[in-house]
Amino acid sequence: MSSLANNYNRRRLSFKKGKGSFLYSTNGKKYLDFVQGIAVNSLGHACPKLVSAINKQSKKIWHVSNAFIIPEGEKLARKLTQKTFAKKIIFQNSGTEATEAAIKVARRYFYSIGKPKKNRILCIKNSFHGRTIAAIFASNSKKMIEGFGPKVGGFDHFEFGNIKSLKKSITNNTAAVMLEPIMGEGGIKVHSKNFLRNLKKICNKKNILLIADEVQCGIGRSGKIFAFEHSKIKPDIVPIAKGIGGGFPMGAVLMTNKVASCMVAGSHGSTFGGNPLAMAVGNAVVEQIFKKKFLKNVEKKSKYFHNELKKIKNDYPMLIKEVRGVGLLIGLKLFNNQAKFIQNLEDNNLLTIRAAENVVRILPPLNVKKSEIDLAIKIIRKVCSELN
Ligand SMILES: Cc1ncc(COP(=O)(O)O)c(C=O)c1O
Repeated sequence: MSSLANNYNRRRLSFKKGKGSFLYSTNGKKYLDFVQGIAVNSLGHACPKLVSAINKQSKKIWHVSNAFIIPEGEKLARKLTQKTFAKKIIFQNSGTEATEAAIKVARRYFYSIGKPKKNRILCIKNSFHGRTIAAIFASNSKKMIEGFGPKVGGFDHFEFGNIKSLKKSITNNTAAVMLEPIMGEGGIKVHSKNFLRNLKKICNKKNILLIADEVQCGIGRSGKIFAFEHSKIKPDIVPIAKGIGGGFPMGAVLMTNKVASCMVAGSHGSTFGGNPLAMAVGNAVVEQIFKKKFLKNVEKKSKYFHNELKKIKNDYPMLIKEVRGVGLLIGLKLFNNQAKFIQNLEDNNLLTIRAAENVVRILPPLNVKKSEIDLAIKIIRKVCSELN
């Protein structure tokens, strides 16, 4: 009997070792891990470059307060600003902290320019931005908010992909629209380029900030550093986490100068955010992912993967409804409940994970090998033939 609370439906599986795309279970089996901590281990398990970075840093300094300068954090912030739209960074420890901080920045910005009533955040119905008390009301999904009232105010909602619903939900008090360019937990739902461009136009016209939550779809997962780049739009605030730490817990909020100027001393903080160990790993992660060739490779491999999956879908049209996603953020939308499909994949040594709308999420490490994609394809095909 576990002493852990029951807030997870845990699979009866544990691991003793991981290497690259593979996990080795405590009961002696080898799995192709296409969950990777849910899009966290961007360079796979035990990546030698990350192991070396954390080892080196662990012998120097583990932790100092943000009351002092942390050179590793300065370095990572510099790299992030050099490679992206952002001019200023605040480091956090997780995705939900990053989205919360993004909301704070948006509100504080309008406060700082004398518009304190412009403080409402407009989100997509049943989106996912984390599990803190504010983030669950940002989502407003019944499952996530049940029993956690009183309701946190200040959030409005519109329908996914629906410009009419978006326009209707905007008021003079709307400070920001917050959305994931590709909804991960929501079922790998990709916003059309058109929708995002129209959204950005509306934001510009109405003086509304755009928060692109790239916690799951960012840092190379879509084949570009950020998923919003596919639509060539420019957000004002971007929370990130997951992939930037490559398995070490960290998050960050990326901002333009315009909005960052409101975050004066004392306006936000975190004991562990920007911790030297996390920063050392983050630096090692971006050193790989920011290489042009690296992202080109993600694009190339993901195209191959998507094509092979589409062939399977065509062969099993009664089983797979749709192949979703961009880059290596992939979803198989099934006609039936996805639990059995995921279990059968696991029985055949391939780990995947559910998302909403009967979607099986497939999240290989970004440095996955073609041979590993081929192995996954073979297993998915076998499971389809078993379930057909
Ligand atoms: C888009 C998005 N935002 C926020 C979060 C919350 O991140 P964390 O679980 O690190 O708090 C997640 C986690 O899955 C996410 O996918």
